Amino acid sequence: MQMIDVNLRNKAMEMVEEYSGIALSDPYYPSYHIAPPVGLLNDPNGFIQWKGTYHLFYQWMPFHTGHGAKFWAHLTSRDLVDWAWQEPALAPDEWYDRTGCYSGSAVEKDDELLLFYTGNVKDDDGNRETYQCKARSEDGVSFEKVGVQIELPDGFTPHFRDPKVWKMRNEWYMVIGAQTEEKEGCIVLYRSEDLDSWTYEGILASGMGYMWECPDFFRLKDDVLLFSPQGLEEKGIDYRNMYQSGYIIGDFDKGFPEEKFRELDHGFEFYAPQTTEDDQGRRLLVGWMGMPDGGEEYFPTHDNHWIHQMTLPRELLQQGDRVIQKPVEELEKLRTDKLVEENSGSFAGNLPRNIELIMREIEEDIYIDLYDYFSIRLEGRRITIERPAMDGSGKEWRAADLVSPLTEMRMFIDQSSLEIFVNDGEIVFSSRMFPDVDTHECRVKGRSSITAWNLRAEKGAE
Ligand code: FRU
Repeated sequence: MQMIDVNLRNKAMEMVEEYSGIALSDPYYPSYHIAPPVGLLNDPNGFIQWKGTYHLFYQWMPFHTGHGAKFWAHLTSRDLVDWAWQEPALAPDEWYDRTGCYSGSAVEKDDELLLFYTGNVKDDDGNRETYQCKARSEDGVSFEKVGVQIELPDGFTPHFRDPKVWKMRNEWYMVIGAQTEEKEGCIVLYRSEDLDSWTYEGILASGMGYMWECPDFFRLKDDVLLFSPQGLEEKGIDYRNMYQSGYIIGDFDKGFPEEKFRELDHGFEFYAPQTTEDDQGRRLLVGWMGMPDGGEEYFPTHDNHWIHQMTLPRELLQQGDRVIQKPVEELEKLRTDKLVEENSGSFAGNLPRNIELIMREIEEDIYIDLYDYFSIRLEGRRITIERPAMDGSGKEWRAADLVSPLTEMRMFIDQSSLEIFVNDGEIVFSSRMFPDVDTHECRVKGRSSITAWNLRAEKGAE
């Protein structure tokens, strides 16, 4: 039996003290995105607005830039733009979570902030146990673990994790990402009246791939099931990443047919997104701008003791049978100087790496080259993005087809990331990029108006 270290939190904070200066001075470290002060960041967890403040947690490995026994790092914000670092909410220091406080969600009940997460336990031979656990907080700063709430039911392998809890029809529901004993990916449903005892309600959706991670359920015009399936075969321009993240628009009572699955984002790095509803009634989403087993070992930031970042917060809306994503309007606060305002069509010049680039009134096929590294092409209704392959073997590309003609594109560039929102969020591409740090040249060919804003230049999300 492995020993449990009760001083893990202190050790994590020592790592922050020792290495965050190096991480933050990396030219690839983001200026306005959430990134870890040290170590590895993956899934967003526990996204909630509680007593007026947004709380966002994430999967965090403070001790190195690989995966392993995850903590929950914790950030708060009043406006979704400036985030303050809080003490880590959960450390893997109990018998039921000792190899990781894995992903989960947050809800409010009786004035308390409650976290539901997966306790991952893996022995030296790789045998896995999984427990769905709860933690509570009265002040939204320190969290007390309550313990195990749900054990693995019959019929599933221990790949059973990532509880997302919500309230509906005066009851609490929980979806969990799972794998059946027949090695099929699925989502299971639980129900509770008090958030203490849970009833297993069966499989809510299944059908493709061998494992579904990080489920989420919410209502836009219709019911939406969001999840990250693993094991889908590449199909034309679809499913070209190692794993996918997408949604099915369906009906909670009638089901979520797998053939309606659509990818949410078409970039190289996007996984395990999570949503919450805020007090303005907006459905907000944050995703991990990363991809497990998708080349992360080649990122050049390991030597500076950090890896990965979040996407910007986005508002989700339903347009017909699609979910569209718009950057939240608060992000306009990031704008400082206007660097470019060009109506003549093309543009060529040097631009910094913390900018928002807006193209409107696009009238013909366009070609964009950013920092001699990342290209974006529109041909007919197809948009293709291309960059050098992370493993150094030539180029790699992703593509998506527009439903309506291209009219506008909004790009957020932040040192080593690029989020492209096409036609007001109809198609989104989220990707990392690692151009030579001294190259600033950008070229746009095609006819459109072009505006570029400098965005806040401070380093770090704190
Ligand atoms: C998704 C995931 C989750 C798990 C977590 C562990 O990226 O694999 O299923 O809870 O990451 O960090």
